[in-house]
Amino acid sequence: MASKIIAVIGATGAQGGGLCDAILNDPNGGFACRAITRDPSKDRARALAQRGAEVVRADIDDVASLRAAFAGAHGIYCVTNFWEHFSAEKEKQQAKYLAEAARASGAAHVIWSTLEDTRALMSPDDTRMPMLQTHYRVPHFDAKGEADGYFAGLPVTFLVTSFYWDNLYASGVVPQKSPDGSYAWALPMSDKRLAGIAAEDIGKVAYGIFKAGTKYVGKTVGIASEFLTISQMSDKLARAKGIPAITHQDVSADAYRAFGFPGADEMGNMMQMYRDFEAEVVGRRDPALARQLAGSILTFDQFLEKYKDRIQF
Ligand SMILES: NC(=O)c1ccc[n+]([C@@H]2O[C@H](COP(=O)([O-])OP(=O)(O)OC[C@H]3O[C@@H](n4cnc5c(N)ncnc54)[C@H](OP(=O)(O)O)[C@@H]3O)[C@@H](O)[C@H]2O)c1
Repeated sequence: MASKIIAVIGATGAQGGGLCDAILNDPNGGFACRAITRDPSKDRARALAQRGAEVVRADIDDVASLRAAFAGAHGIYCVTNFWEHFSAEKEKQQAKYLAEAARASGAAHVIWSTLEDTRALMSPDDTRMPMLQTHYRVPHFDAKGEADGYFAGLPVTFLVTSFYWDNLYASGVVPQKSPDGSYAWALPMSDKRLAGIAAEDIGKVAYGIFKAGTKYVGKTVGIASEFLTISQMSDKLARAKGIPAITHQDVSADAYRAFGFPGADEMGNMMQMYRDFEAEVVGRRDPALARQLAGSILTFDQFLEKYKDRIQF
């Protein structure tokens, strides 16, 4: 029997790349990988082609290209990249195109990589954090959550992801070294736990969801690997890097937003949301289910063992 095609948006990135790896690492699994990229000539796309993926060009800003790329697919993995443009409105438009093209394709199973709409956690007159881009608390969460509505009526699984531990090497979220040689990082997380995961494992979970057939169609699956306080993360990171200690400075969310780096206000709101609504965020994510669907996923210690050399501070 012919393998069922899974069309993967973001195939050259973290989430989609993990899904492509999972499909390609399971050649007898009954699925084939269609890797979608704007640029099939880039190294990561060529590497996927060499490993047996069908590489197809499409752009999530161009719905006609998506319709063509989704044709004949059994499954479709949909992800948007907020951090390429920082615009909630644009992210919603991209999600709308993805849903529209998925609907036209008649695919049996769609996974939408989403996050919660944090506006549901706070009343509109709550002043604890500023509104950003006029309408949003945490734009890259809220836009994805609002976009869930575009996928209504499709055979969809809503995959609610978590903070990538990979931010430690990819996004500059790292401790700083003081002139006295000590290490500290300032994060507005108090003693609350951050829901974290290795980015590569999100795609492994997604593959497990596709393999489960219709079991998770119409369902929301929230995933994380571990829920850790910044102090716990500090201790583990210090051990992995072979340094005596890392201190967590519990700054206010206002102070963090004022740090001024690109996206500081957005990250400040996000951290504050993780802190103030720890129970809601943690309650929505299930590490045991993530492990079961993926077969195995990295703990934070295992992640550090694998990536410690990339984490520089
Ligand atoms: N960082 C975190 O802690 C975290 C946690 C949870 C969720 N997220 C969410 O994850 C999303 C990003 O996913 P990721 O980390 O897997 O991304 P990534 O590693 O940065 O890669 C981005 C991928 O998106 C594709 N892409 C971007 N714009 C595209 C377009 N216009 N048309 C077609 N493909 C496009 C790129 O493909 P080509 O360049 O090859 O075309 C690339 O494969 C963000 O929206 C973010 O909010 C992040």
